[in-house]
Amino acid sequence: MFDPIKAIIDFTAHASVSADPEAKPGIEGAVKFVGNLLEKELGCTVEVAPTAGHPVVIAKREGRPEWPHVVIYGHYDVQPADPLEEWHTPPFEGVVKDGELFGRGTADDKGPVMVHIAAMARLLERRPDLPLRVTFLIEGEEEIGSVNLASVMEARKAELSGEFLLMSDTTGIGRDDESITTGLRGISALEVRLRGPRQDLHSGFHGGPVMNPVRALAKLCASLHDEDGRVNIPGFYDEVVPPQDWEREEMARLDRDPEDYRKLLGVPELCPPPDFGVFESRCFGPTLEFNGIGGGYQGSGSKTIIPARAFAKISCRLVPNQDSARILDLVEQTLRERCPKGVTMEVERHHGGDPYVVLPPHLSGEPADTAKGRAFRAADLAIREQFGSAPHYLREGGSVPILSDIKRILGMDALMLSVALQDCNMHSPNEKLDLTVFERCSRVSEKILEAVADGA
Ligand code: BES
Ligand code: MN
Ligand code: MN
Repeated sequence: MFDPIKAIIDFTAHASVSADPEAKPGIEGAVKFVGNLLEKELGCTVEVAPTAGHPVVIAKREGRPEWPHVVIYGHYDVQPADPLEEWHTPPFEGVVKDGELFGRGTADDKGPVMVHIAAMARLLERRPDLPLRVTFLIEGEEEIGSVNLASVMEARKAELSGEFLLMSDTTGIGRDDESITTGLRGISALEVRLRGPRQDLHSGFHGGPVMNPVRALAKLCASLHDEDGRVNIPGFYDEVVPPQDWEREEMARLDRDPEDYRKLLGVPELCPPPDFGVFESRCFGPTLEFNGIGGGYQGSGSKTIIPARAFAKISCRLVPNQDSARILDLVEQTLRERCPKGVTMEVERHHGGDPYVVLPPHLSGEPADTAKGRAFRAADLAIREQFGSAPHYLREGGSVPILSDIKRILGMDALMLSVALQDCNMHSPNEKLDLTVFERCSRVSEKILEAVADGA
């Protein structure tokens, strides 16, 4: 019998850190593992499609052309595990404790991928002749911006286009509060580097006439928000669409306590920007964040220098209808205009992606008698059964930049069934998956796939 929890543990053992050039064995191991699983457990025809970066696993359950076709998306790559000393169990050795599975990738996205594999396995056991075509599209570069997936999709449009995309790579609320994610933020990222003197200088010998790059960078970075916390870049908010009334109501219906959230995060105070509540600001509003900043002496004690260089890594989270390329232009232009005298600036533009929104037919007014409509209806019903309450229809704050490309290139909308929870420690030490939610979601996925196959 197929044991999905064991399969997640085995999948987790492959340290498929896409950002790490040393992690090749982990990448190869994860590719082989998930490919074999899809072949052995689901009888799929599996192909490992090479890209300029990490390969994409494409696994197909073929069938008659008139059968509906569902594409299931996920990613086998994970974030680096550091800081290692903060893990209570080894990151690449999945451990079950009190109904939760710990390990890097258990929540993002190996566990959620397994939700749909487990669902398919059960469904095919019950109905080996299920009239449904399924393509699994499991990529290895989501955590580094999915830079090579769009060209694979462009080249293979016809075979990768289905009625809709089923995926789980977003977060829900809690064990008894399942959500269907109705949108994700976009992202624009860049790195700015300032150069002062040719090399570090004695700060007493030369201090006075020389502009310190760290001081210049601090001034530049400080200029990017105003006193109230709004992003201080001309034009940044021009295209922002405020949340719909139903979205604000849905958010309020959650009735979460900001104090619990504050404690979960371990911050002394929450500081949402004007115009948004605590929970609203993490999905309905745009942001500009400093992801890393550096320059000068980082060792112990003091070292009296004027450093030669300083850098900051910056990313913006975007909401409809901000355009990631336009925002990147605005940020770069603003940085260049505000570059303090006495230093030179270099800007490196990183990956990005547009915000993404998808509404179920009952909220968008689209016809419901399509495969997508049936899928959303089945999801709603199955969530009520499995979780004992109606799903929450909410946007989330993270980004899966490839979704807007999938919509543009393959014409598919996504049904995002959330699996990870608020306290899942995604991208951070002690990442974990709630096994009750896993089991419930795999039952929901099973119902979705069956409803689409039956056209009911
Ligand atoms: N699964 C996350 C995205 C996510 C997180 C959606 C939380 C909803 C709630 C995904 O793996 C991720 O981390 N994406 C990156 C994209 C970036 C590397 C371009 C992100 O959001 O930072
Ligand atoms: Mn993910
Ligand atoms: Mn991630």
